Amino acid sequence: MLQPATRLSHLSYELRGALPRLADELEQQGRDIIRLHLGDPAAHGITPPPAVTDTVRHHLTASCGYGPTQGLPEARSAIASYYRDRGLTALEPHDIHIGNGVSELVLLALQALLNPGDEVLLPSPGYPLWAAAVQLAGGTPVFYRCDEHSGWLPDVADLRSKISDRAVALVANSPHNPTGAVWPIEILRTFTDIARHRRLVLLSDEIYAHIVYDAQHTVLARLAPDLPCLTFGGLSKTHCVPGFRVGWMALTGPHSATHAYAEAVTLLASLRLCPSTPAQHGIGPALRHIHRTETHLTGPGGILRQRHEDAWEALHGIPGMSCARPQGAFYLFPRVPPGHRDSTFARTLLREHGVLVAPGSDFRWDAADHVRISTLAAPQQLKEAVHRIAHHAATVS
Ligand SMILES: Cc1ncc(COP(=O)(O)O)c(C=O)c1O
Repeated sequence: MLQPATRLSHLSYELRGALPRLADELEQQGRDIIRLHLGDPAAHGITPPPAVTDTVRHHLTASCGYGPTQGLPEARSAIASYYRDRGLTALEPHDIHIGNGVSELVLLALQALLNPGDEVLLPSPGYPLWAAAVQLAGGTPVFYRCDEHSGWLPDVADLRSKISDRAVALVANSPHNPTGAVWPIEILRTFTDIARHRRLVLLSDEIYAHIVYDAQHTVLARLAPDLPCLTFGGLSKTHCVPGFRVGWMALTGPHSATHAYAEAVTLLASLRLCPSTPAQHGIGPALRHIHRTETHLTGPGGILRQRHEDAWEALHGIPGMSCARPQGAFYLFPRVPPGHRDSTFARTLLREHGVLVAPGSDFRWDAADHVRISTLAAPQQLKEAVHRIAHHAATVS
């Protein structure tokens, strides 16, 4: 018998688990399935800025060799200059690691940080990669609550009550997956105060930084130049190329405090030799054209804004389902009709009405009474999906 390692026994990543597999089976049987469970703009025909794909194509033949462990120097310079413009004034290219998506870098950052039993504070609900990565690195995830009644902002009292002497890191994620909440500067300041007081490393997942509607995104590290902080970003969401697998992390804080950790990260990164070379050529043009891309996606009449607003308008009017209005990302996180479990609601919605959404419990939301719906689909498809969801909600209510 080939047995998996016991440390995997509590891991899960249901976003690619049983429900999407059921959707595949139903599709193979000829059913028409509307997939609203993943945050992949490209899968819904939202195209990347041509400057990104053209530059990658242009460099393809010259990108066949291994590259530097931390990533191409010109790409890291572009990232450093992007963050310097956003207040990380001391950031240099050598403080940046490029990786095969934020996913790879989160695993790497936590492997380099945690000792057995170290605790990491994570939002609940939250993107499941983080808890899995903490567990894989031998740490213990400890969840602080985000509060639906405040538009899913972190409940700071709950967070404070969860910090023990074993806590080493505090994870922030704004705009937030799965709720779309954009955390205001006051909350971010509270996070930095807590981190300073309790000597926690700040880990800030800002992959949705440019997908914000009528709210302001702040780079958390800007508020804490005196503290070790890792900021994560990438091209998967704003630049619509998740398949390129390009992400980065920027390490800020006093070099005297971060130096040993930075070396450990470089050592671990060198074990995987380098990030994929071709796609890194897209970073420079992506960041140079960021304002144009942002306007195209989230400005007035922008493609993501329009889909997001229309989906929220249609969904929050469904009797029995309520949904806080998200200010960022491209998800809605509505409550399912009273008395229903998220997983049962999602499974029957898929089987009977052909709409695939993700149960909230996939995002470590143990109340199991919400589902996450991506708003990326084309308007006609979204309209049809919300119609089917309304029909389903009416039959189960
Ligand atoms: C909050 C969050 N962080 C990280 C990721 C992973 O991003 P990447 O494609 O860069 O690995 C996702 C993907 O959905 C996400 O939602």
